[in-house]
Amino acid sequence: MRTAKLRPRAPIAISISISPLHTTHLSRSLRSLLPCLSLFPRTSTQQGAAMATPRTMKAVQYDKYGGGAEGLKHVEVPVPSPKKGEVLLKMEAASINPIDWKIQKGMLRPFLPRKFPFTPVGDLAGEVVELGSGVTSFKPGDKVISISFPNGGGLAEYAVAPAALTVARPPEVSAVEGACLPAAAGSALQLLKAAGVSFDEKTSSATGPKNVLVTAASGGVGHYAVQLAKLAGLHVTATCGSRNIAFVQGLGADEVLDYKTPEGAALRSPSGRKYDAVANCAAGVSWPALRAVLADEGGTAADVTPGARAALTSLLQKVTFAKKRLAPLMLTPKREEMEWLVDLARQGKLRTVVDSRYPLGRAQEAWAKSVGGHATGKIVVEIGGAE
Ligand SMILES: NC(=O)c1ccc[n+]([C@@H]2O[C@H](COP(=O)([O-])OP(=O)(O)OC[C@H]3O[C@@H](n4cnc5c(N)ncnc54)[C@H](OP(=O)(O)O)[C@@H]3O)[C@@H](O)[C@H]2O)c1
Repeated sequence: MRTAKLRPRAPIAISISISPLHTTHLSRSLRSLLPCLSLFPRTSTQQGAAMATPRTMKAVQYDKYGGGAEGLKHVEVPVPSPKKGEVLLKMEAASINPIDWKIQKGMLRPFLPRKFPFTPVGDLAGEVVELGSGVTSFKPGDKVISISFPNGGGLAEYAVAPAALTVARPPEVSAVEGACLPAAAGSALQLLKAAGVSFDEKTSSATGPKNVLVTAASGGVGHYAVQLAKLAGLHVTATCGSRNIAFVQGLGADEVLDYKTPEGAALRSPSGRKYDAVANCAAGVSWPALRAVLADEGGTAADVTPGARAALTSLLQKVTFAKKRLAPLMLTPKREEMEWLVDLARQGKLRTVVDSRYPLGRAQEAWAKSVGGHATGKIVVEIGGAE
């Protein structure tokens, strides 16, 4: 595989024999002559360190709705330039989320993607190589994770990301682990918060929920939700398929239900508990099914897979002061939450379980695996390593 770490060519050879000022002028002139060759590297300089960025890169794109994994094409495209408030990352890893292929399916048509061809995937880990104007919080060489939604761009050797949603990746957290965190762990955290769970040690035990149900606990979002709920000190009942029961117990769940059994389908706790919080990560679980297992005193079922009527149901519950509430959730990425999650990972308190890893050249397989809906943990595309 071609490595993106191009050695600077003509400019270095020239700078040996002429002054730096002339080098700059000559470099600009040459650059204006050479773009048609697509070979001349871009350079960025920060604190004396020069980085070379090639003009083109390998990327994986789709150019229309539908087509699944076979609709993804390997292309050579220009390396994007970071605009104001953005950073350019040399990609190390990207993790696929169901939203990525749902956009390709046209489920957010006509809003997303904003244009074709589209380079999908918004969960990014990489190294900062260029800064857009106004970015002062990073420098070239920084290892970071970021979320670029809805712009995507992750299935490529380079991607631009908003600096405001980019956080440092400490050495204890690998690029693969880091790439898994933004959407999935971020959604798990926001789901639990929306269900009333507090992560503030001073308040959580006093007023917050005690018993939580986490559905689809073996998936990308669910496996983080189980761990976060345990960190908040809750009793966790979790659902998953039979093959993943030991896995979910290993994440810390106190009770695990096989969702394909009648008890599991009814979300009934084996110990007879009712839940005062639900983090619903499974598609197709109805509000009546969730309401039936919420505690009589009241509770909130936060739902990351809300159906068409969820917003209306939730609004009606608010105006009628209902004790049992549905809280539909759309992830709103927050930098401070990303930092908090990365720090938990750094301390070894939040584990990322990787279902499977693929090089960029096999991104279609990663896509197909996610579309299949049977991942245990996260699916990752590694970029820049051996194919
Ligand atoms: N609204 C938002 O902002 C937002 C953000 C993130 C995710 N989401 C949505 O949340 C859902 C979960 O995302 P994800 O990344 O966790 O998906 P995922 O990793 O693809 O989930 C797959 C896992 O879920 C399990 N599963 C599927 N249906 C189940 C059920 N009815 N009961 C128990 N387990 C079940 C599967 O187990 P088996 O293999 O045994 O079937 C598999 O292990 C997706 O629909 C996604 O689009 C929404």
